[in-house]
Amino acid sequence: MSLMTLFNQTEQTSSQSATQQADLKNRRIRSFVLRQGRVTKGQAHALEIGLPKFGISYAATTLDLNEQFNRTDSKKILEIGFGMGETTAKIAQTLPDYDFLAVEVHTPGVGALLKLAEEHALTNIRIIQHDVVDVLHNMLADASLDGIHIFFPDPWHKKRHHKRRLIQAEFVKLLCAKLKSGAYLHVATDWQEYAEWVLAVLTAETQLQNSADTYAEKPSYRPLTKFENRGIKLGHGVWDMVFIKR
Ligand SMILES: C[S@@+](CC[C@H](N)C(=O)[O-])C[C@H]1O[C@@H](n2cnc3c(N)ncnc32)[C@H](O)[C@@H]1O
Repeated sequence: MSLMTLFNQTEQTSSQSATQQADLKNRRIRSFVLRQGRVTKGQAHALEIGLPKFGISYAATTLDLNEQFNRTDSKKILEIGFGMGETTAKIAQTLPDYDFLAVEVHTPGVGALLKLAEEHALTNIRIIQHDVVDVLHNMLADASLDGIHIFFPDPWHKKRHHKRRLIQAEFVKLLCAKLKSGAYLHVATDWQEYAEWVLAVLTAETQLQNSADTYAEKPSYRPLTKFENRGIKLGHGVWDMVFIKR
């Protein structure tokens, strides 16, 4: 091997490792852990049939939401982390004049919501399977949303994991940029300490106004989940927070 080749290789390796180090340093703390999770046959079928109809591929290009939902006269709601999608599908059925852009990273959940969308012939749901932070930064125009739903975000109970919580001051600023003036942000959680955290973060954001004194009454469009019902019977609480963008 010539000295020049050796030099070039060493140069390449050290600049690669510099890039890798910079990548590692800049790597965002994620609010989720990608679980493997089994995709059922029904979900796999729904993914195959439903994705071309209801799926929007992640791309760093601003979406025209009216074009995506084929109508201009509807309210546009973003749902973050829909899990298995039962709530999303129920709300989409209850509110046919609203369009729901639903974002989730978990494949079985995406399959489950696609299955529900197909079964109930829903036309007002679109799904993006990707980290919502990128979707907000790169796919949504400022002042393009009439509402945002975040139901039971992972509470990340342990103190050393609090940095993984989705609701953080910087993230809320990003949400505010995407909300129209007068639009709402609705967060619900069943973990009291996280409820207190969310209430404090949202209250500190001057672009938002609380619709209640502290916690809100559960808005009628949010259905009770099976899990929530079980919790309520055991005496556990659920806290809804609805804030309006000034
Ligand atoms: C505890 S689950 C709640 C699911 C559902 N909203 C419910 O009420 O049952 C939180 C969900 O948020 C999703 N999630 C967390 N961070 C996310 C992110 N940055 N982008 C997209 N989805 C995310 C997780 O994959 C998970 O499915």
